[in-house]
Amino acid sequence: PKRVRVHHLGQMKERGEPITMLTAYDAVTARIFDEAGIDVLLVGDSIGNTMLGLHGTIPVTVDEMVPAVRAVAGAARRAMVVADLPFGSYEASPQHAFATAVRMLKEGGAHAVKLEGGERVAAHVKLLSESGVPVIGHLGFTPQSEHALGGTRVQGRGDGAAERLVADAVALQEAGAVAVVLEMVPAPVAARATEVLHVPTIGIGAGSACDGQVLVWTDMAGMTAWAPRFAKKFGDVGAALYTATRAYAQEVREGTFPGPDHTFAE
Ligand code: KIV
Ligand code: NA
Repeated sequence: PKRVRVHHLGQMKERGEPITMLTAYDAVTARIFDEAGIDVLLVGDSIGNTMLGLHGTIPVTVDEMVPAVRAVAGAARRAMVVADLPFGSYEASPQHAFATAVRMLKEGGAHAVKLEGGERVAAHVKLLSESGVPVIGHLGFTPQSEHALGGTRVQGRGDGAAERLVADAVALQEAGAVAVVLEMVPAPVAARATEVLHVPTIGIGAGSACDGQVLVWTDMAGMTAWAPRFAKKFGDVGAALYTATRAYAQEVREGTFPGPDHTFAE
């Protein structure tokens, strides 16, 4: 299959063809999502919550991200692989961002990186873009700033907030961002940003007007009891895994596994 590249994302926006994006953190699931035709696989810092048993994305380190990126990039044949720059690995300066992005591309094999923030990271996005690293922006609710934002809440509401969000999106685009993720933004605000930008918007809890959608795969597949309201559960994979595990344990305890089919004779 032909690799999805940044210019394809722009073409998809132009044609009104929705972009599909999903998180992945390992080779096993990345292969499935890639074969299922997901356009962009995001190795999100949501790996903290979903895989590492941490509370939120703030504790996630670059050293924890790199092996996950390598696993996903190694497995994905068609999808574009995007690596999140975790909290504390890029904010201090454009050079700081570049050094971390280099690790994601050289050691991880990522095709692009994603970072959080608008105007305040425009110079960072510019240096990366000019240095050959495609960047995806991330606006609205930005989990790395959850303490400053007062918890997980919808952004872009209230006096001037919508205008500021659109201005941040434009600043990212002007700095060279190839797409912008919009998280937990009122649908009309996301629609406005989508109309103003010529690069694609990819929504999560941002309504249907965005040029694409992204979900955390464990929410999408029903791996956990709780998921955010905006994350539709498209399967019951957690329950299926539980059932398979119970059946395995039961057969071991009963002595029916391994049977003749799973046993080497003399
Ligand atoms: O880390 C992540 O999974 C993300 C998506 C929710 C956009 O940043
Ligand atoms: Na993230």
